[in-house]
Amino acid sequence: MKQIFIVVCALTLLSQSAVAQQKTPPKAKPTTKKAATAAPKTAAVAAATLTAGKAVYTQNCLTCHMADGGGVERMNPPLNGTTWVLGDKTRLVKVVLNGLEGEDIDGESYASVMPAFDALTDKQISDVLTYVRNSFGNKATAISAAEVKTIRASNKK
Ligand code: HEC
Repeated sequence: MKQIFIVVCALTLLSQSAVAQQKTPPKAKPTTKKAATAAPKTAAVAAATLTAGKAVYTQNCLTCHMADGGGVERMNPPLNGTTWVLGDKTRLVKVVLNGLEGEDIDGESYASVMPAFDALTDKQISDVLTYVRNSFGNKATAISAAEVKTIRASNKK
């Protein structure tokens, strides 16, 4: 009787460890897969920011700078590859906050006037500029709402 009990115990333990071993590998697999797909996401600009930025662009900027960011010759400058778009963030944010008039853009002059968009929120401005800096062939770092807030605070009217 005692022997049978020991055998049953041993069998139970064996089958339990077998189940545990079976369970471990499928658990580990999805974890490594997730880590691999999550890595590039953090490096690139968030898709949600680009979607929100495109909406702000379509509503406020598209009529002058065009859907492809190409602008209108001698009227409105392009937004692809200009030193203003890709360069200093403070200067770029101030163009949107204050507007721009009579400035040469990379050696070209434009007849139209860029209106001020200071009624847009910090997030709308950071979204639209992040979108512009990562569209039309541009590739530059994102601008955060916190950065816009700081620049707006020090922006003289
Ligand atoms: C009414 C037409 C108009 C609208 C609307 C407009 N812009 Fe402009 N924008 C201009 C003009 C004209 C200039 C150049 C002004 C100058 O020559 O001094 C300019 C200049 C710029 C520049 C700097 C020069 C360059 O081409 O890199 C940026 C950046 C810019 N605009 C972004 C925007 C964004 C973002 C919006 C929407 C929030 C917007 N603009 C809306 C007409 C416009």
